[in-house]
Amino acid sequence: MTDKYAVFGNPIAQSKSPFIHTEFAKQTQQDLSYDAILVSVDQFDSSLTAFFTDGGKGANVTAPFKEQAFAMCDELSEMATLAGAVNTLFNLPNGKIGGDNTDGVGLVNDLEMLFGSLKGKRVLLVGAGGAARGCILPILQHNVAQLVICNRTHEKAEQLQALFSEYGNFFAKAIEELHSPFDLIINSTSAGLSRQLITLPNVIVDKTTDCYDMTYSQQTTVFNQWAQDQHSRKTADGLGMLVGQAAKSFSLWRGVTPDTASVMGKLRESLAQKVAD
Ligand code: ATR
Repeated sequence: MTDKYAVFGNPIAQSKSPFIHTEFAKQTQQDLSYDAILVSVDQFDSSLTAFFTDGGKGANVTAPFKEQAFAMCDELSEMATLAGAVNTLFNLPNGKIGGDNTDGVGLVNDLEMLFGSLKGKRVLLVGAGGAARGCILPILQHNVAQLVICNRTHEKAEQLQALFSEYGNFFAKAIEELHSPFDLIINSTSAGLSRQLITLPNVIVDKTTDCYDMTYSQQTTVFNQWAQDQHSRKTADGLGMLVGQAAKSFSLWRGVTPDTASVMGKLRESLAQKVAD
């Protein structure tokens, strides 16, 4: 029988997850279906429960439900516990629901593929919302020399410092306190979604600095354009993180690791097509 999977979100029409998972399934010859399910905010818990009761094997959760999914899981991975958010759910054998968070692993895999090992690097994480929180532990687990977090609202960065400083050399700095270049800067803010530029000092980028924007688009993102204007060594957007988190979910569910490169290529083509249309 075909195994059922789905992604839950609101909005959901833009989601690339059904395409990505269907490609992974073809590639690895897995018999599964993967739907996109739009749910209203007050019906998330009941829809998800009904999905699993009806035999759903696993689900992804996207905005704005990652925290709600976290709250309703019976069992959580350490990654999900520390992220305070769940993007991957499983139907456990005892009828319970298990939750994990694969966003950070997706990010770190993409960073290492693009820029080489994270080991020993001085890394700056810009933003202190849900997206930032989900990737702090996986970055620290890759033995960076330091991970600095800064945010427009400094107190939020300080709150994350308090939560994660026991896991590595991790600390919050006010934006005005940033005076020297980093090896890698990651933008986790949502500013780019409305094509807004975040205010950062130019001195944090030099020609050895790699820059990564967790958002993605066909055109260069506003953050990456700023980084290129400061002569950043290399920039990349977050399409690889999207495919990477999906690959990690898929391998947790199915026990096989799909190839991400071919799916990335197809997604880039479809983004280009949309701009041309
Ligand atoms: P997400 O789940 O995508 O991380 P979020 O939890 O709402 O979304 O967090 C959004 C992040 O983007 C926050 O760090 C926010 O900064 P504040 O904490 O100061 O609000 C940041 N952000 C959004 N728009 C921004 C802008 N124009 N300039 C700087 N930071 C911005």
